[in-house]
Amino acid sequence: MQQVWGSALTHEEAANAMVQETSAKSADIVLDVRHVSVEYAGGGGAVHAVDDVSFTLARGQILGLAGESGSGKSTLANAIARLLRPPARVVGGEVLYYPRPEADADARGAAPQPVDVLGLAPEALRAFRWRRLSMVFQSAMNALNPVLDIGTQITDVLQAHCPSMSRRNRQERAVELLRLVGIAPDRLRSFPHELSGGMRQRATIAIALALNPEIIIMDEPTTALDVVVQREILAEITDLRDRLGFSVIFITHDLSLLLEIADRVAIMYAGRIVETGTAAELHCQPRHPYTYGLLHSFPKVRGPRLALTGIPGSPPNLRALPTGCAFHPRCAFAFDACRDATPDLQPCASGARSVACHLYDDPAAFPVIDLSKPRAEAPGAAVSSSPNGAAQCM
Ligand SMILES: Nc1ncnc2c1ncn2[C@@H]1O[C@H](COP(=O)(O)OP(=O)(O)OP(=O)(O)O)[C@@H](O)[C@H]1O
Ligand code: SF4
Ligand SMILES: [Mg+2]
Repeated sequence: MQQVWGSALTHEEAANAMVQETSAKSADIVLDVRHVSVEYAGGGGAVHAVDDVSFTLARGQILGLAGESGSGKSTLANAIARLLRPPARVVGGEVLYYPRPEADADARGAAPQPVDVLGLAPEALRAFRWRRLSMVFQSAMNALNPVLDIGTQITDVLQAHCPSMSRRNRQERAVELLRLVGIAPDRLRSFPHELSGGMRQRATIAIALALNPEIIIMDEPTTALDVVVQREILAEITDLRDRLGFSVIFITHDLSLLLEIADRVAIMYAGRIVETGTAAELHCQPRHPYTYGLLHSFPKVRGPRLALTGIPGSPPNLRALPTGCAFHPRCAFAFDACRDATPDLQPCASGARSVACHLYDDPAAFPVIDLSKPRAEAPGAAVSSSPNGAAQCM
């Protein structure tokens, strides 16, 4: 039986989450990221910051992206939003955006075609950004302009993207947006330094919401906040998502926080996604040794006290990655194949979760491996039970 981490989920909650996951799979996809790779060119060789990353985002879903510092989370986010500048270069892949069927179907009612964001011409890209996809940037508190009041910063976005909107309507919309994120309208003329950290963060979320986007990428939106304010902001984001129906890619290195807010989680290591699943699945039964290490890097709130094992070693140099599985120098389960071949991200038989690890090279079997015990010699030696990928969390 697996341990329960952070706020415990019961078996029933985990099972419910899996049902939701199955419906999310069949639900409307708004973003389909396919095999995206990004490099930073440089004198000492290219930095392979994002390597063959694929995932889908469903409408209304919160997808969490977690991984240690330098694993490529922000680079991936900036690639999706087409915000990368040289020396960064997207060297492969597609980012397909699916317009809302009811809003964008053509006159004969045909389903709208996906749009490749990476191929958009400048005018189309300008129309896509903020109206379809907006961003809350990493260090968002510093992203606010210190010499403009927040009202001006909100109306600037409206002026840039909706030039026909009247001044009065822009002001009204700014007040409406502040209310939406829980800031009193009388703070419209406040400068960033006159607001608390939490209010500044809310202001950046208000700016991201200005044009009612379908997707918001939030890059470490709560990292600099204390835990109480962090919790309030998370509740605010979930509430806004429920009311407005947008999808979120929520990036953080804090997996415990993601498990609370995300519907689905993708774990990144050295520029690749190594595991995806529902928050409940990853919480209750991590499959990848790296996910397991991340989960053992913060204490449980309930249950017996256990030593935190963490993850030995450091993230690899992305200019000179280890051969085979990039995690092998830090992995207690590594065996010969791990040093030679890079594992692909493979869906398990049920298709609800995926993992990139040679321990699971047979997706039909997809064994449950007890990651709390160091691996014995033969692959599969630490297998404790089998086979259908159900989360076991009690
Ligand atoms: N302009 C740049 N030139 C060269 N390398 C860069 C550049 N920007 C980022 N990198 C490298 O790309 C890799 C991924 O960086 P990125 O900022 O995407 O990581 P991250 O997962 O967002 O980290 P953090 O959690 O610290 O924000 C890192 O190794 C980083 O050093
Ligand atoms: S492929 Fe090998 S080294 Fe990589 S995570 Fe799996 S067991 Fe560890
Ligand atoms: Mg980052």
